[in-house]
Amino acid sequence: MDYFAYKNEQLFAENVALEDIAKKFGTPCYVYSKSTIERHWHAFNNAAGNQPHLICYAVKANSNLAVLNVMAKLGSGFDIVSGGELSRVLKAGGDPSKVVFSGVGKTPEEIAFGLEQGIKCFNVESRSELARINQVAESLGKKAPISIRVNPDVDAKTHPYISTGLKDNKFGVEREQAIEIYQYASSLPFLNVVGIDCHIGSQLTDIAPFVDALDILLALIDELAEHGIQIKHLDVGGGLGVTYDDEEPPHPDQYTQAIAQRLAGREELMLIFEPGRAIMANAGVLLTKVEFLKQGAEKNFAIIDAAMNDLLRPALYSAWQNIIPLNAALPREKAIYDVVGPICETGDFLGKNRELAIAPEDYLAVRSAGAYGFAMASNYNSRCRAAEILVDDEAVHLVRKRETVEQLFENEFIPR
Ligand code: LLP
Repeated sequence: MDYFAYKNEQLFAENVALEDIAKKFGTPCYVYSKSTIERHWHAFNNAAGNQPHLICYAVKANSNLAVLNVMAKLGSGFDIVSGGELSRVLKAGGDPSKVVFSGVGKTPEEIAFGLEQGIKCFNVESRSELARINQVAESLGKKAPISIRVNPDVDAKTHPYISTGLKDNKFGVEREQAIEIYQYASSLPFLNVVGIDCHIGSQLTDIAPFVDALDILLALIDELAEHGIQIKHLDVGGGLGVTYDDEEPPHPDQYTQAIAQRLAGREELMLIFEPGRAIMANAGVLLTKVEFLKQGAEKNFAIIDAAMNDLLRPALYSAWQNIIPLNAALPREKAIYDVVGPICETGDFLGKNRELAIAPEDYLAVRSAGAYGFAMASNYNSRCRAAEILVDDEAVHLVRKRETVEQLFENEFIPR
């Protein structure tokens, strides 16, 4: 459930008409709803019940400082994948002791930064990374808390680009090698083995693959105990899907409960979740304006002022996101449009074959754009990245200014 809805045919975010925001701040712009973020976060946090647990929001989904600050105030942890994301978490008031650091290519500098800040855990993806972390920890005179990401080889049945738990993916270590790699980790003097983790993919709409992966990890935890290696936390990753169109993913509390229930009898084991999309996707929209309507030989095009540089998901994953008018009361004729941006690529579309009743200058909202929207934006075609706004009841906060053209080339030099 989210707080974007029509009131008298005007689309609102909480208690603010989105058309007012579009007029005041210009388009394209992203708008996030604070109450929706909080609601989704609590859905995860409450459902884990009495099992000790930590929600580590996946920063990559949306790393705006104001968004991270909302999460930090809730007491959230964070899942990061770079030193840049750790800096953002710190700047936003996040607690480093609740940070887990994922990713296959952590540099020595990033590892040192994590150690100096006292993060909760490094989610390690390879034997060579273990050696590197051990070395950096030694140089700092610290012990590094580590977890090993096990690739459970389950099919998440999602888009191949966002499926991560299969044998041919670059992520994690093979389950068959896990025990041996844990033994190696335990033998390294500057590592402290604390956890086990996995992440099998993103936008999963079925609970079964999560539970299959969980069972594999629980069996490994028992096997590790037989080898004298005690695992204190189990990190099940992120990946819970959302409704973009007609998908019916499990509700966060169904998902969280299904997992927590499987841990019966393991009251000591801390459960970590790394949700990104399930918290943020439907907590944000992208506002855009219709520039022109153009009739092609076979198609009608609605040319809008947002493009693939603002929202890459349709171009990259053929993702479908709903596109709706901000003012549904305008007298317009319906037609079928491809909704396209101004970028010089055929792949620059935000929607295809959409029935819309629109005219030039009308405003539209692309729904479900709060996750992997702005976070994946680029400056392709020297387009300035959009403004970002956070709505809190009736209050409207500009949380990122629209980029300026000067900013685009401030780091460039012309050799003399
Ligand atoms: N943990 C790890 C280790 C991850 O790699 C990811 C996402 C997450 C957590 C959060 O997953 P979520 O709960 O958001 O599904 N850009 C793509 C999604 C890429 C996801 C990458 N990893 C998209 O727009 O669909």
